[in-house]
Amino acid sequence: MSTTWKSFGAAALTVTVSVLVPSVAAAQSAPTFTKDIAPIFQDKCEACHRPDSIAPMSLMTYEEARPWARSIKGRVESRQMPPWHINRTVGIQEFKNDRSLTDEQIATVTKWVDSGAPKGDMKDMPKAKVWPSEQGWNFAAQFGQKEPDLIVRSTPWTQKAGANDTWWKPIVESGLTEDRWVRAIEIRPGTVKGRKITHHAIANLMQTEDGIAANDADPNGRQVAGTFMEWAVGKQGEMMRPNSGKLLRAGSKFRWDIHYSNGGEDITDVVELGIYLYPKGQEPKYRQVLHLMGGTNAGGVDIPPNALKVTEGFFVLRENGRVESFQPHMHLRGKAMQMDAILPTGQVQTLSYVDRFDFQWMNVYQYADNAAPLLPKGTIIKVLAWHDNTSANKNNPDPNVWVGYGDRTVDEMAHAWVNVTYMPDADYQAELAARREALAKKTSQQQQQ
Ligand code: HEC
Repeated sequence: MSTTWKSFGAAALTVTVSVLVPSVAAAQSAPTFTKDIAPIFQDKCEACHRPDSIAPMSLMTYEEARPWARSIKGRVESRQMPPWHINRTVGIQEFKNDRSLTDEQIATVTKWVDSGAPKGDMKDMPKAKVWPSEQGWNFAAQFGQKEPDLIVRSTPWTQKAGANDTWWKPIVESGLTEDRWVRAIEIRPGTVKGRKITHHAIANLMQTEDGIAANDADPNGRQVAGTFMEWAVGKQGEMMRPNSGKLLRAGSKFRWDIHYSNGGEDITDVVELGIYLYPKGQEPKYRQVLHLMGGTNAGGVDIPPNALKVTEGFFVLRENGRVESFQPHMHLRGKAMQMDAILPTGQVQTLSYVDRFDFQWMNVYQYADNAAPLLPKGTIIKVLAWHDNTSANKNNPDPNVWVGYGDRTVDEMAHAWVNVTYMPDADYQAELAARREALAKKTSQQQQQ
């Protein structure tokens, strides 16, 4: 060897070095669980992948995660996990609750698996993340309270082992004798076992409304009950923004709409709605309303066998407002939903496009503060929904039947739940000006770089 080295001289040395350097670098940079992967899993996976939660396995420790390495690579590369179905090229891209992985994070996870999923040094392992108790009231401490000011419970339902899915719709009184403003809401199944059967729960607020808070009438001319709060797996409560609140009227009632599914044993449970109120007499400046928008429910949803169908629905903003969130709602044939704003000028803006809707995931996309669209009075929100009743839709139970509107998952519906904070003109103009200023600042910073 040494003679070869000598005879090739400097040229051989150069070659040897240039081959060595990248391989040493690769070995050094192979991601390890403790240093590179655990922080990603804590941030983006543990919300569901921890003991007693909804996912099939915990990903908190190396020993738990290692056997799933191959499956993790597949689900992460294809963006099936974490569940987040916003199209990444259209509309608003900044969200408060974005749980998707960045391209770099995906590359890191893939590289970790391809390098044999090494553990790494335990001294690199981040401290275990502390999760709030799912059976506790998570906002209570922030308000210096032990529990919410008002707890409203649905009437108990027993879901028998093996029974078909049930939609339970009891009506209960709020018990309020005066109008009060709400600053935060939490909703949860009453027990840990209840989590096995509670697929989804909505608390509809029944109270007389007029003006901006009134929902559009349904296709039969009946007034639609407004949604107050909704619970879906993995969803935390709802804290109003500063100076904002929902109005709860004296004598109001809640109509529950709870989807129970088979839990494998007889389970009796209730759903609890915890409401935190502003102190008596304190009225927040802005009113927030969670609207059902663009419902093409009773009229439009009529889907032929083996066909794709597009429907569109509309909602008019009666005051200036900031759109805080978007949550598409469809059933098994749901394929995609897009929300556009048609401005009074006629200009159309696409706000969001969920192109891989998955019925299993009732995701709420909450816009970041500086990205939540500010829309003037008179804006029309257009909700476009696609249903796929062909065999290409892997969730489709039967592509050979007509599908109409209904509550069962084998029936269809299409609407968006959209939370709006309404503002008087002066505040709206001030918000717009602040937004423009922030944008101008950002642009000039980027130009200086
Ligand atoms: C919002 C809840 C949630 C989040 C966040 C989440 N998962 Fe999941 N995951 C689930 C559920 C529920 C399942 C089982 C249903 C399914 O397979 O889709 C699952 C299934 C999986 C599977 C398939 C397991 C199998 O049977 O092969 C893998 C792998 C996985 N998740 C990895 C991840 C990783 C990695 C992350 C974070 C980067 C993540 N998940 C984030 C809820 C979640």
